[in-house]
Amino acid sequence: MNIITVKNYEELSKMAAHILAAQVIEKPDSVLGLATGSTPIGIYDCLAEWCKNGEVDFSKAATVNLDEYRGLDHDNDQSYYYFMNKHLFSRINIDPSRTNVPDGTEPDPEKESKRYEALIKELGGIDIQLLGIGHDGHIGFNEPNSFFDKATHCVDLTEMTIEANKRFFESIDDVPRQAYTMGIGTIMSAKKILMVVTGADKADIVAKAFYGEVTPEVPASIIQFHPNVTVICDEAAMSKVQ
Ligand code: F6R
Repeated sequence: MNIITVKNYEELSKMAAHILAAQVIEKPDSVLGLATGSTPIGIYDCLAEWCKNGEVDFSKAATVNLDEYRGLDHDNDQSYYYFMNKHLFSRINIDPSRTNVPDGTEPDPEKESKRYEALIKELGGIDIQLLGIGHDGHIGFNEPNSFFDKATHCVDLTEMTIEANKRFFESIDDVPRQAYTMGIGTIMSAKKILMVVTGADKADIVAKAFYGEVTPEVPASIIQFHPNVTVICDEAAMSKVQ
């Protein structure tokens, strides 16, 4: 693993955006695996600016997102599709038909999971997968003690996740109870992985996931076994590493 420490969130965002932009410059029809959450917002801002300035061209690229809440449609402002459209897709010259997020409105979990997995294969696999990490080590919606070999599937959200997400909804009853997520097997089959971590509140999990043992109790620890991983952490996130 290539672990890079940068000063702060701004530097992290720029460096990660450079890696994604370089991927698209080198291979214009790259398949980018993308993430939501607060960490990638600065990366998407950089990519949007560089695209506007003509420095990166996304017209041939495709994207596949990690996850989506089950039951929310594209117009719901809490859906991950809405997030991606707001922070990235509507700001770059990507063909909207080449942007992919699991379909939260598909009622049949088996059908949607198979469709999404087949779509990733049809696209030729993920060239680079961007990841953030949860405080418990989750990646996508793969919570502790998930199976390492899983493909895309539907998960029941834990009480901790429902509780953490309720701030975005009017009431806790509105928080979806399930989500579609790429499995750890899907994530590990990406050709490259780019993990970004910011903030002192992530320092404990950085020490565990990237410097501790590989265990299903810390899902992100599995990326230690991936052959091409770059982890970018800011100084605060690295503060518990000796
Ligand atoms: C987002 C995702 C999540 C986040 C993780 C960290 O698509 O799959 O696993 O990457 O929860 O979120 P932030 O960046 O908000 O700390």
